[in-house]
Amino acid sequence: MNLKKLAGYEAAKLIADGDVVGLGTGSTTHYFIEKLAQRIKEEEMEMLGVPTSYQSSFLARDLGIDLTTLDEHQIDIAVDGADEVDPQMNLIKGGGAAHTMEKIVDSAAEKFIVIVDDSKLVNELGKFPVPVEVIPPAFRVVGERLDEIGGTANIRMAEKKDGPVITDNGNFVLDAEFNNIKKPEELEITLNSIPGVVENGIFTRIVDQVLVGTSEGLKIINKD
Ligand code: 5RP
Repeated sequence: MNLKKLAGYEAAKLIADGDVVGLGTGSTTHYFIEKLAQRIKEEEMEMLGVPTSYQSSFLARDLGIDLTTLDEHQIDIAVDGADEVDPQMNLIKGGGAAHTMEKIVDSAAEKFIVIVDDSKLVNELGKFPVPVEVIPPAFRVVGERLDEIGGTANIRMAEKKDGPVITDNGNFVLDAEFNNIKKPEELEITLNSIPGVVENGIFTRIVDQVLVGTSEGLKIINKD
């Protein structure tokens, strides 16, 4: 069984006719968007998507999902993947370098659902490096500041392009290795207070529900 597909497909079943839906980024969200497009066609649903990246925008358009923007519509429900999920439903995101727009869309939604396979569940965040989107001229000074606060920083290099990854917003990404993050909320705020940082990949306080694909089936974790 493909566990990402299980989570993505189950999330698509939660979307109601007329919903404005935040469309996350990544391979798990790919399945969600695929199944959503199928439902829209088969059930003749009215639905608008708000993409979090070029990836989700292109996929949604290819599959015939109508798109809108945050300017025009309030988002009813956002569905997105994650790189790590802790027991308090704090996340690390940004494996696809889309965490800035993801955080904007996911935070703006009335309800935010995370879809993962069970390999993403951790007791404590931090094995996955925290992606930090940085304005290009600031990358060296931000990297030094990250090192000072204990997050060994590496600039993310591109594949099939020489040089660094350039985000959808035209910026660089520093991946900061913290290993054990004891206070995710504090670190999220600290990272965003460094001049030159656009947004970091720690997401706290915004998740309503996590759908986990496991070999025993779907596991649902709700906010307390
Ligand atoms: C992109 C993300 C993704 O949601 C995250 O990396 C998980 O990806 P996948 O579903 O491919 O494992 O945050 O910026």
